Amino acid sequence: MGIKVAPSLLACDLAHIADEVHSAEAAGADLLHFDVMDGRFVPNLTFGAGLCAAVRRLTTLPLDVHLMVAAPDALLEPFAEAGANRLSVHVEAVTHLHRTLTRVRELGMAPGVALNPATPLSALEELWPWVDFVLVMTVNPGFGGQLMIPDGVDKVARLAVERTRRGSTFEIAVDGGIEVSNAEALRAAGADVLVTGSAFFGASDRRRVVRALRGDNG
Ligand code: DX5
Ligand code: ZN
Repeated sequence: MGIKVAPSLLACDLAHIADEVHSAEAAGADLLHFDVMDGRFVPNLTFGAGLCAAVRRLTTLPLDVHLMVAAPDALLEPFAEAGANRLSVHVEAVTHLHRTLTRVRELGMAPGVALNPATPLSALEELWPWVDFVLVMTVNPGFGGQLMIPDGVDKVARLAVERTRRGSTFEIAVDGGIEVSNAEALRAAGADVLVTGSAFFGASDRRRVVRALRGDNG
């Protein structure tokens, strides 16, 4: 399976979001990453299901919603209706993860869990049967354009070992500060999905960035 690249719309020019979405498609993006922040779980505030529905009308690319919110349960249905294909919640935010993740699946979305840099992999212990992917944060969430915390590479590697040990097939996605210079280490560690905000939308040749993130320099 090849590496998937997921541009994060947080870093795009929101005044021209239709152009940005089409540019991501043309550059070969596999998914679009949609960062939802509530000003409580993280200090920043972004966008909700209304904008997600508008993006849905612009593209057939899968929409990967990352909920950085303290109370995600009330948002699951609105994002399903808005056309989200994958949805992750933070393990640090949710008390009844079984209920939340089961509901995400019932609503027709692939359920995922996101882990902050300080959250150990042991937090996933009971969750394996309920998740299709794990989103390993390599920055403290809340803002784009931060530098990757390098310890994230080892965390991805340990998660990949655990996946093999369990014979599981969940995807490993990585988010935060990913650029061409650190993508190879993440791929080697076992990442399947690389989320990219500033490295993608800040580049003049976005197609080249997608290829380089995938390790396909031909
Ligand atoms: C961080 C968000 C990320 C962010 C990535 O809180 O979850 O998805 O947009 O942006 P870069 O690649 O600029 O770190
Ligand atoms: Zn994100």
